[in-house]
Amino acid sequence: MKLKTIDLTKKFGSKTAVKHLNITLSNGVYGLLGANGAGKTTFMRLLCNIQTPTSGKIVLDGKNIVTLGEKYSELLGYLPQHFGYYPEFTALDFLLYISALKGLSEKNAKKKSKQLLEAVGLSEESRHKIKTFSGGMKQRLGIAQAMLNNPHILILDEPTAGLDPKERVRFRNIISAFAQDRIVILSTHIVSDVEFIAEEIIMMKSGEIIHFGKPQEITSEIDGQVWECTVPTAHAEKCAAAFNTSNLRNTDRGETVLRIIADHPPMENAIPIRPNLEDLYLYYFKGDAEK
Ligand SMILES: Nc1ncnc2c1ncn2[C@@H]1O[C@H](COP(=O)(O)OP(=O)(O)OP(=O)(O)O)[C@@H](O)[C@H]1O
Ligand SMILES: [Mg+2]
Repeated sequence: MKLKTIDLTKKFGSKTAVKHLNITLSNGVYGLLGANGAGKTTFMRLLCNIQTPTSGKIVLDGKNIVTLGEKYSELLGYLPQHFGYYPEFTALDFLLYISALKGLSEKNAKKKSKQLLEAVGLSEESRHKIKTFSGGMKQRLGIAQAMLNNPHILILDEPTAGLDPKERVRFRNIISAFAQDRIVILSTHIVSDVEFIAEEIIMMKSGEIIHFGKPQEITSEIDGQVWECTVPTAHAEKCAAAFNTSNLRNTDRGETVLRIIADHPPMENAIPIRPNLEDLYLYYFKGDAEK
């Protein structure tokens, strides 16, 4: 299955949220990475056919998704960034309700709902009301509902928001197992969330795709621009603020090792190191949100 965007553009008044995107997605896990306002949600809503492009189109195996209509929806699972739950529903009732909306048979709905509650680690709470759930539990329920119809295309908008480290690992395992023979796209601004789970990274900035490829490939752009510098811990904070610093770690000798992104060696003792995705992200965003 190939999902292709052709010159895909979405404008809101004078603001262009998505600019002339040309990208082809085949089976695999794609991590959509970008700062606040980069256009991730808009791109995903276009992919879900919830938003209409201002120009350009999206085709699945050569057919426009607008023409495919319901056939396309049946292939799709979606977790919106801001997902509405029904506080008085139990987790199981909620999944049964969404199953009904998606047109699953009653028998299939029950089986699938229980299976997914197990997969996301909520089977013990399946009969608890959603209003008693933590943020992470709600998020896991949201992930489960997106998978009810066994979708071929799974689109998750910030699925790891609110998950603790243990839940992140669980999520990663669920997605890796599910992603065989499917297209999975997940957005985040937490680099470490996608670095290990996504085979391909789509980096967005100001509505454009600035990088698309495997993490090892796209980080090569900043080869020779990442340095490790060791300074006395007392000076570490000042140095970190003076440079574009992606990481610091203390040694047990009263020193701190800084990871700095710079064109030239930032200090005399700087050692060049291999860039990772976090470095590349910082190189482009320096932690800022887009206006
Ligand atoms: N319905 C809308 N009307 C007007 N402007 C919008 C609308 N939706 C999005 N935008 C604008 O489009 C740009 C992209 O927004 P989008 O929500 O796609 O970004 P994002 O990458 O998902 O950000 P975040 O990480 O904060 O979720 C922003 O400048 C936003 O203000
Ligand atoms: Mg968003």
